[in-house]
Amino acid sequence: MEFPILDTQVYNHRLVYLDNAATTQKPQQVIDTLCQYYCTLNSNIHRGAHHLAAEATERYEEVRRKVQGFINARSSNEIVFTRGTTESINLVASSFGRRFLHAGDEVIVSGMEHHSDIVPWQLACELAGASLRVIPFSDEGVLDLEAYKALFNEHTRIVACNHVSNTLGTVNPVRELTEIAHSHNVPILIDGAQAVAHMAVDVQQIGCDFYCFSGHKMYAPMGVGVMYGREEILSQLPPYQGGGEMIKDVTFERTTYNELPFRFEAGTPSVGDVLGLGAAIDWMLAQGLDSISVHEDDLLRYATEQLQQVPGIRFFGTAPHKAGVISFLVGHSHPYDVGTLLDKLGIAVRTGHHCTQPIMDRYGIPGTVRASFAAYTTRDDIDALVAALLRIAPMLE
Ligand code: ALA
Repeated sequence: MEFPILDTQVYNHRLVYLDNAATTQKPQQVIDTLCQYYCTLNSNIHRGAHHLAAEATERYEEVRRKVQGFINARSSNEIVFTRGTTESINLVASSFGRRFLHAGDEVIVSGMEHHSDIVPWQLACELAGASLRVIPFSDEGVLDLEAYKALFNEHTRIVACNHVSNTLGTVNPVRELTEIAHSHNVPILIDGAQAVAHMAVDVQQIGCDFYCFSGHKMYAPMGVGVMYGREEILSQLPPYQGGGEMIKDVTFERTTYNELPFRFEAGTPSVGDVLGLGAAIDWMLAQGLDSISVHEDDLLRYATEQLQQVPGIRFFGTAPHKAGVISFLVGHSHPYDVGTLLDKLGIAVRTGHHCTQPIMDRYGIPGTVRASFAAYTTRDDIDALVAALLRIAPMLE
């Protein structure tokens, strides 16, 4: 089995894993890569003169070049390894904030951001005396581009928006958002956490200044992520964390910093996880990014159609351009009750506010039930979800 965990039985039922927006499962080749790293290669990189250190360094830097190709960055200097999307966004918000945000400045975020693309900006704004402006969205979950354009003024310093909403599934027009920001000479950060595993991403084609994502939502291990930053802007940012590897020279009087991208990678990175990320990229490329995307589009259409059979179902996020995420409620039942009953039938979904409380406030609901898909999701999985919902529906009234 390519994904060993999918053989798991839950309460004597086949596991139907539909929580892929929270984290995807890992193929055998990613698990094997981790195992091989710790069995044959473990050592600290960029430091040692010995064989293992040299080999591990070479493999680590090879993954940097692989990520560069994967998102079509211009240079591998633009690829910074982090612990995940949250750390990537915190890095940018903190460094950009220290360098460019001043009292009275404004940062634009969308109303459908994950908390990890809101709170880091709030922290940066608080320090600088700046404030947040928010792009509204329609009932269907589509960003209001006219309102977005109207938010810009001479105080706007940066825009941050997701590529795909983790709660609504909306695929946002990131290229257009970027063009609009750039027409005002304002840089833009794209949170790509929910996009990279589901479609081909080309940062040069989007034109964005920063693009952040996590490994664990794209079949790689937890604890590794990427911050892509356009070299021209990245080279202007001060370091985020201080420590080993990010320096050139240290004295008690003064420290000079390393080149890109090492300036942003203080301390020992999670080398094994980075190699796992490389294996995950190999796995995705072998499947074909376009095939993954076509497969998940088919599942989204099929699931949206089949779920209509469930009495009282209400969908949140019905944008015309969506990724494989379906958020819903059944009648007036609490999402947590639905999730718990589904779990007893072996079906893993996520319930709650999905770290997007402003979206819940927008709709006046406490949370949703969310089913989200991956390359290994099948129509059988969707059928199992629908059958389970039909079975539990009478218990929910
Ligand atoms: N951000 C992740 C999710 O949407 C954890 O589930």
